[in-house]
Amino acid sequence: MTAQPAVETGAIGSDTPAIEAVDLVKTFGEFTAVDGVSFSVPQGSVLGLLGPNGAGKTTIVRMMTTLSEPTSGTARIAGFDIRDDPEEVRRHMGLTGQAATVDEILTGRENLRMIGGLYGIRRRELAERSDRLLEQFSLTDAGNKQVKSYSGGMRRRLDLAVSLLAAPPVLFLDEPTTGLDPRSRNELWDVLRELVDGGTTLLLTTQYLEEADQLADDIVVIDRGTIIAHGTPLQLKQQAGAASVVVTVSADSDLEPARELLSRYGQEVFVDAASRTVTTPASGLSDLTRIAGWFDESQIGVDDLGLARPSLDDVFLSLTGHRAQADTADNSGADTSGAAHPTASTKGESA
Ligand SMILES: Nc1ncnc2c1ncn2[C@@H]1O[C@H](COP(=O)(O)OP(=O)(O)OP(=O)(O)O)[C@@H](O)[C@H]1O
Ligand SMILES: [Mg+2]
Repeated sequence: MTAQPAVETGAIGSDTPAIEAVDLVKTFGEFTAVDGVSFSVPQGSVLGLLGPNGAGKTTIVRMMTTLSEPTSGTARIAGFDIRDDPEEVRRHMGLTGQAATVDEILTGRENLRMIGGLYGIRRRELAERSDRLLEQFSLTDAGNKQVKSYSGGMRRRLDLAVSLLAAPPVLFLDEPTTGLDPRSRNELWDVLRELVDGGTTLLLTTQYLEEADQLADDIVVIDRGTIIAHGTPLQLKQQAGAASVVVTVSADSDLEPARELLSRYGQEVFVDAASRTVTTPASGLSDLTRIAGWFDESQIGVDDLGLARPSLDDVFLSLTGHRAQADTADNSGADTSGAAHPTASTKGESA
């Protein structure tokens, strides 16, 4: 990521937000997909736009990247307004969409050369940059094979490599790791962290709570087109409730004594026989050591004792009353056209 073709970041002040959404609204007929969304992303940081299927994530990204016109409101990318300066906006951003856009017939390397040519990157520079990107995304060996022979994960990586060719200061990634296996996902996270270390600003949409937790400085949680929470991963977790101490006892017969012990000290206790655990609210490490002490002095067999903080999944549940899409499911097959929110009004379906 060295020389930046036709892109200058010097034009904007260091405290101009890299990305700004100002009361964005998008309606499709009667249906309001995005209903007044505002946020701002400082340069060099990562915003995670988190929400379930049909929340409006892609619609927001499409408006911000000039692919679709807002019904009302606007956005600014690197200080340029999407309505007044769409050309400048496009010059300052890269986009990896939700669906792969690379050409099936071409090889990975040919795809990079073709798009790089469109950006006007000179041949030699382009060859070097393509090689570097292929290596960075572990595609060196596959670089000379046709994309139609690639796995889903390889396609995603090539897609991302293509959107990085022009080294844009602002990068939009729509569900970059959907459909990837855990190893590919981790590799991609590493690449993204490197980019951010190099000064790139990232906006990524995700249904994976863990992904937002891993990568984002700030998280905007969206549900049915509106922002339902905004904060750092830690703030959101704190919002979902306090930490708890989880004690895994050695045998089923230890469960009842463990419950009694905690109750005796006035603790609220939740027993889960299936996992052989008792859980009790705690405010921090001092509670943990105190509770560990009680068990130490008892005859109760303990396999494990630890402090648990709420996951972002718990956050989602406490904010919306329903869980986000399960992390375990592969949602790559879910297309957005038919993915209206299950509990959202159906009036949009006919629009
Ligand atoms: N062109 C369109 N015409 C009509 N409705 C649309 C259109 N595009 C999106 N929608 C609807 O707007 C809502 C938001 O869709 P969007 O694709 O932005 O959700 P998403 O958060 O990206 O979901 P996913 O996680 O499935 O990608 C959905 O109910 C969708 O059906
Ligand atoms: Mg989407």
